[in-house]
Amino acid sequence: MSSNRRVQPPHVVSIADFRPLARKRLPKAVFDYLDGGADGEMTLRENCRAFDDIMFRPRCAVAFSECGLKTNVLGYELSFPAMLAPVGYSRLMHPGGEVSAAAAAGKAGTGYILSTISGHPMEKVRAASTGPVFYQLYLMGGRTAAEAAIERAKAVGMSGLVVTIDTPVAGLRERDFRNGIKELMGTNPFAMVPFLPDVLSRPGWLVRFLKDGGVPKLANVVVPGKGAMEMMDVAAALAASAVKWEGAIVVKGVLPGEDARRAVDEGAAAVSVSNHGGRQLDGVRPSIRALPEVVAAVKDQIEVWMDGGVRRGSDIVKALCLGARAVLCGRAYAYALSAAGEAGVSRALQILRTDVDRTVRLLGCASVSALDRSYVELPAGWE
Ligand SMILES: Cc1cc2nc3c(=O)[nH]c(=O)nc-3n(C[C@H](O)[C@H](O)[C@H](O)COP(=O)(O)O)c2cc1C
Repeated sequence: MSSNRRVQPPHVVSIADFRPLARKRLPKAVFDYLDGGADGEMTLRENCRAFDDIMFRPRCAVAFSECGLKTNVLGYELSFPAMLAPVGYSRLMHPGGEVSAAAAAGKAGTGYILSTISGHPMEKVRAASTGPVFYQLYLMGGRTAAEAAIERAKAVGMSGLVVTIDTPVAGLRERDFRNGIKELMGTNPFAMVPFLPDVLSRPGWLVRFLKDGGVPKLANVVVPGKGAMEMMDVAAALAASAVKWEGAIVVKGVLPGEDARRAVDEGAAAVSVSNHGGRQLDGVRPSIRALPEVVAAVKDQIEVWMDGGVRRGSDIVKALCLGARAVLCGRAYAYALSAAGEAGVSRALQILRTDVDRTVRLLGCASVSALDRSYVELPAGWE
Protein backbone atom coordinates (compact mmCIF):
# COMPACT_ATOMS: atom_id res chain seq x y z
CA MET A 1 0.00 0.00 0.00
CA SER A 2 1.36 3.47 -0.82
CA SER A 3 2.26 5.82 2.04
CA ASN A 4 -0.56 8.08 1.04
CA ARG A 5 -3.27 5.40 0.96
CA ARG A 6 -2.08 3.99 4.25
CA VAL A 7 -3.01 7.25 5.98
CA GLN A 8 -6.43 7.78 4.42
CA PRO A 9 -9.77 6.55 5.84
CA PRO A 10 -10.66 3.93 6.89
CA HIS A 11 -7.09 3.41 8.15
CA VAL A 12 -6.59 6.88 9.58
CA VAL A 13 -9.53 8.99 10.67
CA SER A 14 -8.06 10.75 13.69
CA ILE A 15 -4.56 11.49 15.02
CA ALA A 16 -4.90 8.56 17.44
CA ASP A 17 -4.91 6.21 14.45
CA PHE A 18 -1.29 7.08 13.62
CA ARG A 19 0.04 5.73 16.91
CA PRO A 20 -0.47 2.01 16.22
CA LEU A 21 0.90 2.50 12.69
CA ALA A 22 4.05 4.07 14.14
CA ARG A 23 4.33 1.27 16.68
CA LYS A 24 4.14 -1.33 13.92
CA ARG A 25 6.90 0.27 11.86
CA LEU A 26 9.43 1.37 14.49
CA PRO A 27 11.69 -0.71 16.74
CA LYS A 28 10.40 -0.56 20.31
CA ALA A 29 13.37 1.59 21.37
CA VAL A 30 12.50 4.30 18.83
CA PHE A 31 8.73 4.08 19.38
CA ASP A 32 9.13 4.36 23.15
CA TYR A 33 11.51 7.32 22.78
CA LEU A 34 8.76 9.07 20.80
CA ASP A 35 5.78 7.93 22.85
CA GLY A 36 7.17 7.97 26.39
CA GLY A 37 7.57 10.53 29.13
CA ALA A 38 9.54 10.99 32.33
CA ASP A 39 9.26 8.91 35.51
CA GLY A 40 5.68 7.69 36.10
CA GLU A 41 4.42 9.61 33.02
CA MET A 42 1.82 11.48 35.07
CA THR A 43 2.32 14.82 33.29
CA LEU A 44 2.39 13.03 29.93
CA ARG A 45 -1.07 11.58 30.59
CA GLU A 46 -2.45 14.76 32.15
CA ASN A 47 -1.37 16.88 29.16
CA CYS A 48 -3.98 15.08 27.07
CA ARG A 49 -6.55 14.40 29.77
CA ALA A 50 -6.79 17.96 31.05
CA PHE A 51 -8.33 19.09 27.75
CA ASP A 52 -11.35 16.94 28.71
CA ASP A 53 -11.97 19.16 31.74
CA ILE A 54 -12.86 22.06 29.45
CA MET A 55 -16.38 22.12 28.04
CA PHE A 56 -17.56 24.16 25.08
CA ARG A 57 -20.35 26.79 25.15
CA PRO A 58 -21.55 27.07 21.55
CA ARG A 59 -23.86 29.75 20.10
CA CYS A 60 -26.31 27.97 17.88
CA ALA A 61 -28.30 29.01 14.84
CA VAL A 62 -25.43 31.16 13.67
CA ALA A 63 -23.99 30.31 10.29
CA PHE A 64 -21.02 31.79 8.46
CA SER A 65 -20.30 31.11 4.82
CA GLU A 66 -16.60 31.11 5.58
CA CYS A 67 -14.69 30.45 8.72
CA GLY A 68 -11.45 32.40 9.20
CA LEU A 69 -8.65 30.05 10.25
CA LYS A 70 -5.66 32.25 9.53
CA THR A 71 -3.48 33.58 12.27
CA ASN A 72 -0.25 35.45 12.62
CA VAL A 73 2.81 34.49 14.67
CA LEU A 74 5.70 36.92 15.02
CA GLY A 75 4.58 38.57 11.80
CA TYR A 76 4.24 35.34 9.78
CA GLU A 77 0.83 34.36 8.48
CA LEU A 78 -0.25 30.79 9.21
CA SER A 79 -3.12 29.10 7.36
CA PHE A 80 -4.35 27.76 10.72
CA PRO A 81 -3.09 28.17 14.28
CA ALA A 82 -0.96 25.04 14.74
CA MET A 83 2.74 24.58 13.98
CA LEU A 84 5.07 21.60 14.23
CA ALA A 85 7.10 21.48 17.46
CA PRO A 86 10.80 20.62 17.55
CA VAL A 87 11.17 16.84 17.76
CA GLY A 88 14.69 15.49 18.20
CA TYR A 89 15.93 12.39 16.35
CA SER A 90 13.20 12.76 13.68
CA ARG A 91 15.52 11.20 11.11
CA LEU A 92 15.47 7.96 13.11
CA MET A 93 11.66 7.91 12.86
CA HIS A 94 11.81 8.21 9.08
CA PRO A 95 14.77 8.89 6.77
CA GLY A 96 12.99 12.00 5.41
CA GLY A 97 12.90 13.26 9.03
CA GLU A 98 13.10 17.01 9.44
CA VAL A 99 13.03 17.68 5.67
CA SER A 100 9.74 15.79 5.24
CA ALA A 101 8.15 17.46 8.25
CA ALA A 102 9.18 20.95 7.10
CA ALA A 103 7.93 20.25 3.56
CA ALA A 104 4.54 19.09 4.84
CA ALA A 105 4.24 22.14 7.12
CA GLY A 106 5.07 24.47 4.22
CA LYS A 107 2.51 22.84 1.94
CA ALA A 108 -0.11 23.22 4.66
CA GLY A 109 0.80 26.90 5.02
CA THR A 110 2.15 26.63 8.51
CA GLY A 111 5.42 26.72 10.44
CA TYR A 112 8.02 24.17 11.49
CA ILE A 113 10.54 24.31 14.32
CA LEU A 114 13.79 22.45 13.67
CA SER A 115 15.36 20.83 16.74
CA THR A 116 19.08 21.13 17.47
CA ILE A 117 19.01 17.32 17.71
CA SER A 118 18.49 16.92 14.00
CA GLY A 119 20.06 14.74 11.33
CA HIS A 120 19.42 16.90 8.25
CA PRO A 121 21.33 20.15 7.74
CA MET A 122 19.29 23.30 8.30
CA GLU A 123 19.96 24.54 4.74
CA LYS A 124 18.06 21.52 3.35
CA VAL A 125 15.29 21.87 5.91
CA ARG A 126 14.85 25.60 5.27
CA ALA A 127 14.76 25.01 1.51
CA ALA A 128 12.10 22.27 1.87
CA SER A 129 9.44 24.66 3.15
CA THR A 130 7.73 27.73 1.79
CA GLY A 131 6.44 28.61 5.26
CA PRO A 132 8.23 29.92 8.36
CA VAL A 133 10.95 27.67 9.77
CA PHE A 134 12.33 28.40 13.23
CA TYR A 135 15.51 26.97 14.74
CA GLN A 136 15.30 25.53 18.25
CA LEU A 137 18.53 25.98 20.12
CA TYR A 138 20.17 23.77 22.73
CA LEU A 139 23.61 24.94 23.77
CA MET A 140 25.27 21.66 22.84
CA GLY A 141 28.83 21.57 21.63
CA GLY A 142 29.74 24.69 23.62
CA ARG A 143 29.19 28.39 23.16
CA THR A 144 31.16 28.72 19.91
CA ALA A 145 29.16 25.93 18.27
CA ALA A 146 25.91 27.55 19.43
CA GLU A 147 26.97 30.97 18.14
CA ALA A 148 27.94 29.43 14.82
CA ALA A 149 24.53 27.71 14.65
CA ILE A 150 22.78 31.03 15.27
CA GLU A 151 24.81 32.73 12.51
CA ARG A 152 24.10 29.83 10.18
CA ALA A 153 20.39 29.98 11.01
CA LYS A 154 20.35 33.70 10.18
CA ALA A 155 22.27 33.17 6.95
CA VAL A 156 19.90 30.44 5.69
CA GLY A 157 16.88 32.61 6.42
CA MET A 158 15.43 30.89 9.48
CA SER A 159 12.38 32.80 10.71
CA GLY A 160 13.46 33.03 14.34
CA LEU A 161 15.09 31.30 17.25
CA VAL A 162 13.31 29.17 19.85
CA VAL A 163 15.24 28.65 23.08
CA THR A 164 14.09 25.69 25.17
CA ILE A 165 14.64 26.35 28.86
CA ASP A 166 13.25 23.25 30.57
CA THR A 167 16.20 20.92 30.03
CA PRO A 168 18.99 21.65 32.54
CA VAL A 169 19.33 17.85 32.62
CA ALA A 170 17.28 15.21 30.81
CA GLY A 171 14.16 13.85 32.48
CA LEU A 172 14.37 10.21 33.50
CA ARG A 173 12.72 8.50 30.58
CA GLU A 174 12.52 5.05 32.06
CA ARG A 175 11.49 3.35 28.84
CA ASP A 176 14.71 4.56 27.15
CA PHE A 177 16.83 2.90 29.84
CA ARG A 178 14.92 -0.36 29.59
CA ASN A 179 15.26 -0.37 25.79
CA GLY A 180 18.99 0.39 25.83
CA ILE A 181 18.82 3.59 23.78
CA LYS A 182 22.20 4.70 25.14
CA GLU A 183 23.83 1.39 24.25
CA LEU A 184 22.23 1.32 20.79
CA MET A 185 23.47 4.84 20.02
CA GLY A 186 26.95 4.09 21.38
CA THR A 187 29.96 2.51 19.71
CA ASN A 188 30.46 -0.61 21.83
CA PRO A 189 29.02 -3.55 19.84
CA PHE A 190 29.04 -5.86 22.89
CA ALA A 191 26.91 -3.45 24.90
CA MET A 192 24.41 -3.36 22.02
CA VAL A 193 23.89 -7.11 21.79
CA PRO A 194 21.09 -7.52 24.37
CA PHE A 195 19.05 -4.83 22.62
CA LEU A 196 19.51 -5.95 19.02
CA PRO A 197 16.51 -8.35 18.77
CA ASP A 198 14.21 -5.32 19.04
CA VAL A 199 15.88 -3.57 16.10
CA LEU A 200 15.96 -6.78 14.06
CA SER A 201 12.23 -7.25 14.62
CA ARG A 202 11.54 -4.28 12.29
CA PRO A 203 13.44 -5.22 9.10
CA GLY A 204 11.65 -2.57 6.98
CA TRP A 205 12.79 0.18 9.34
CA LEU A 206 16.29 -1.33 9.54
CA VAL A 207 16.73 -1.40 5.75
CA ARG A 208 15.62 2.24 5.42
CA PHE A 209 17.84 3.22 8.35
CA LEU A 210 20.93 1.51 6.90
CA LYS A 211 20.27 2.90 3.41
CA ASP A 212 20.07 6.34 4.99
CA GLY A 213 23.60 5.84 6.36
CA GLY A 214 22.84 4.56 9.88
CA VAL A 215 22.92 6.85 12.92
CA PRO A 216 23.22 10.36 11.41
CA LYS A 217 25.49 13.05 12.81
CA LEU A 218 24.06 16.17 14.40
CA ALA A 219 24.28 18.13 11.16
CA ASN A 220 23.49 21.45 12.85
CA VAL A 221 25.95 21.28 15.73
CA VAL A 222 29.34 21.95 14.20
CA VAL A 223 32.17 22.04 16.73
CA PRO A 224 35.13 24.16 15.58
CA GLY A 225 38.00 21.94 14.43
CA LYS A 226 35.92 18.77 14.84
CA GLY A 227 33.00 19.05 12.42
CA ALA A 228 29.42 17.86 12.97
CA MET A 229 28.91 16.35 16.41
CA GLU A 230 28.15 12.65 16.76
CA MET A 231 24.55 11.81 17.58
CA MET A 232 24.45 10.83 21.23
CA ASP A 233 21.81 9.64 23.61
CA VAL A 234 19.48 12.33 24.87
CA ALA A 235 20.70 12.31 28.48
CA ALA A 236 24.23 13.17 27.39
CA ALA A 237 22.96 15.72 24.87
CA LEU A 238 20.80 17.64 27.30
CA ALA A 239 23.32 17.54 30.12
CA ALA A 240 25.55 19.59 27.82
CA SER A 241 22.93 22.21 27.07
CA ALA A 242 21.58 23.96 30.18
CA VAL A 243 20.59 27.58 29.45
CA LYS A 244 20.32 30.63 31.64
CA TRP A 245 18.20 33.71 31.00
CA GLU A 246 19.71 35.94 28.35
CA GLY A 247 17.65 37.75 25.69
CA ALA A 248 16.03 34.91 23.72
CA ILE A 249 13.42 35.26 21.01
CA VAL A 250 10.83 32.55 21.67
CA VAL A 251 11.20 30.99 25.11
CA LYS A 252 9.84 27.45 25.18
CA GLY A 253 9.17 25.61 28.41
CA VAL A 254 7.45 28.27 30.52
CA LEU A 255 4.97 27.13 33.19
CA PRO A 256 4.61 29.60 36.08
CA GLY A 257 3.56 33.20 35.56
CA GLU A 258 6.86 34.40 37.10
CA ASP A 259 8.89 32.80 34.32
CA ALA A 260 6.55 34.28 31.73
CA ARG A 261 7.11 37.75 33.23
CA ARG A 262 10.83 37.12 33.22
CA ALA A 263 10.65 36.23 29.52
CA VAL A 264 8.83 39.51 28.82
CA ASP A 265 11.40 41.47 30.81
CA GLU A 266 14.29 39.78 29.00
CA GLY A 267 12.86 40.88 25.67
CA ALA A 268 11.38 37.62 24.35
CA ALA A 269 8.93 38.00 21.48
CA ALA A 270 6.86 34.97 22.53
CA VAL A 271 6.71 32.20 25.09
CA SER A 272 5.54 28.65 24.63
CA VAL A 273 3.77 27.27 27.69
CA SER A 274 5.21 23.78 27.77
CA ASN A 275 6.39 20.91 29.96
CA HIS A 276 8.26 19.31 27.07
CA GLY A 277 5.46 16.87 26.42
CA GLY A 278 5.81 15.36 29.92
CA ARG A 279 9.39 14.32 29.20
CA GLN A 280 11.22 16.46 31.76
CA LEU A 281 9.92 17.12 35.30
CA ASP A 282 7.11 14.66 35.95
CA GLY A 283 4.39 15.97 38.25
CA VAL A 284 4.16 19.49 36.82
CA ARG A 285 0.84 20.89 35.65
CA PRO A 286 -0.47 19.96 32.23
CA SER A 287 0.26 22.76 29.74
CA ILE A 288 -3.38 23.68 29.12
CA ARG A 289 -3.87 24.10 32.88
CA ALA A 290 -0.82 26.39 33.08
CA LEU A 291 -1.91 28.51 30.11
CA PRO A 292 -4.37 30.90 31.87
CA GLU A 293 -1.75 31.90 34.47
CA VAL A 294 0.80 32.68 31.75
CA VAL A 295 -1.72 34.60 29.64
CA ALA A 296 -2.62 36.72 32.68
CA ALA A 297 1.06 37.31 33.52
CA VAL A 298 2.18 38.52 30.08
CA LYS A 299 -0.74 40.98 29.79
CA ASP A 300 -0.79 40.94 25.98
CA GLN A 301 2.77 42.23 25.84
CA ILE A 302 4.05 39.25 23.84
CA GLU A 303 2.53 36.25 22.06
CA VAL A 304 1.69 33.16 24.07
CA TRP A 305 1.98 29.76 22.37
CA MET A 306 1.39 26.44 24.08
CA ASP A 307 2.27 22.82 23.48
CA GLY A 308 1.55 19.52 25.17
CA GLY A 309 -1.20 16.99 24.65
CA VAL A 310 -2.69 18.44 21.46
CA ARG A 311 -4.26 15.54 19.57
CA ARG A 312 -7.43 17.09 18.11
CA GLY A 313 -8.53 20.33 16.50
CA SER A 314 -10.85 20.85 19.47
CA ASP A 315 -7.75 20.92 21.72
CA ILE A 316 -6.33 23.70 19.54
CA VAL A 317 -9.60 25.63 19.77
CA LYS A 318 -9.67 25.27 23.58
CA ALA A 319 -6.12 26.64 23.82
CA LEU A 320 -7.10 29.60 21.64
CA CYS A 321 -10.17 30.27 23.80
CA LEU A 322 -7.80 30.48 26.79
CA GLY A 323 -5.62 33.06 25.06
CA ALA A 324 -2.97 31.15 23.08
CA ARG A 325 -2.02 32.67 19.72
CA ALA A 326 -1.09 29.26 18.32
CA VAL A 327 -0.18 25.76 19.48
CA LEU A 328 2.71 23.46 18.69
CA CYS A 329 2.07 19.79 17.96
CA GLY A 330 4.75 17.23 18.84
CA ARG A 331 3.69 13.61 18.94
CA ALA A 332 0.60 14.31 16.81
CA TYR A 333 2.85 14.67 13.77
CA ALA A 334 5.79 12.53 14.96
CA TYR A 335 3.56 9.40 14.97
CA ALA A 336 2.45 10.35 11.45
CA LEU A 337 6.03 10.95 10.26
CA SER A 338 7.02 7.53 11.60
CA ALA A 339 4.05 5.89 9.93
CA ALA A 340 4.32 7.39 6.47
CA GLY A 341 6.92 10.17 6.11
CA GLU A 342 5.79 13.41 4.48
CA ALA A 343 2.43 11.94 3.39
CA GLY A 344 1.74 11.11 7.04
CA VAL A 345 2.57 14.59 8.31
CA SER A 346 0.46 16.18 5.56
CA ARG A 347 -2.45 13.99 6.54
CA ALA A 348 -2.01 14.82 10.25
CA LEU A 349 -2.10 18.53 9.45
CA GLN A 350 -5.15 18.05 7.24
CA ILE A 351 -6.98 16.25 10.06
CA LEU A 352 -6.15 18.98 12.57
CA ARG A 353 -7.08 21.77 10.17
CA THR A 354 -10.48 20.34 9.24
CA ASP A 355 -11.11 19.62 12.94
CA VAL A 356 -10.45 23.27 13.81
CA ASP A 357 -12.67 24.48 10.99
CA ARG A 358 -15.56 22.22 12.03
CA THR A 359 -15.19 23.00 15.75
CA VAL A 360 -15.18 26.77 15.23
CA ARG A 361 -18.27 26.52 13.00
CA LEU A 362 -20.05 24.33 15.53
CA LEU A 363 -19.25 26.92 18.17
CA GLY A 364 -21.02 29.55 16.06
CA CYS A 365 -17.90 31.67 15.85
CA ALA A 366 -16.77 33.49 12.68
CA SER A 367 -13.02 33.01 13.00
CA VAL A 368 -10.24 31.71 15.20
CA SER A 369 -9.30 35.28 16.09
CA ALA A 370 -12.78 35.81 17.60
CA LEU A 371 -12.46 32.88 20.02
CA ASP A 372 -12.42 33.83 23.69
CA ARG A 373 -13.25 32.57 27.18
CA SER A 374 -16.98 32.92 26.55
CA TYR A 375 -16.85 29.81 24.33
CA VAL A 376 -15.61 27.53 27.12
CA GLU A 377 -16.59 26.50 30.60
CA LEU A 378 -13.73 25.86 33.02
CA PRO A 379 -13.84 23.71 36.15
CA ALA A 380 -13.93 25.54 39.47
CA GLY A 381 -10.51 26.67 40.62
CA TRP A 382 -8.99 27.08 37.14
CA GLU A 383 -7.85 30.65 36.79
C1 LIG B 1 10.19 12.50 20.49
C2 LIG B 1 10.24 13.90 20.99
C3 LIG B 1 11.41 14.64 20.86
C4 LIG B 1 11.46 15.97 21.29
N1 LIG B 1 12.58 16.71 21.09
C5 LIG B 1 12.60 18.02 21.43
C6 LIG B 1 13.74 18.83 21.14
O1 LIG B 1 14.70 18.37 20.55
N2 LIG B 1 13.68 20.13 21.51
C7 LIG B 1 12.60 20.69 22.15
O2 LIG B 1 12.60 21.87 22.47
N3 LIG B 1 11.50 19.93 22.43
C8 LIG B 1 11.49 18.63 22.07
N4 LIG B 1 10.36 17.88 22.33
C9 LIG B 1 9.19 18.51 22.96
C10 LIG B 1 8.24 19.05 21.89
O3 LIG B 1 8.80 20.14 21.22
C11 LIG B 1 6.90 19.49 22.51
O4 LIG B 1 7.15 20.34 23.59
C12 LIG B 1 6.06 18.30 22.99
O5 LIG B 1 6.19 17.22 22.10
C13 LIG B 1 4.60 18.69 23.10
O6 LIG B 1 3.84 17.64 23.57
P1 LIG B 1 3.00 16.65 22.61
O7 LIG B 1 3.98 15.66 22.09
O8 LIG B 1 1.99 16.07 23.53
O9 LIG B 1 2.40 17.50 21.50
C14 LIG B 1 10.31 16.55 21.90
C15 LIG B 1 9.13 15.80 22.03
C16 LIG B 1 9.09 14.49 21.58
C17 LIG B 1 7.80 13.72 21.70
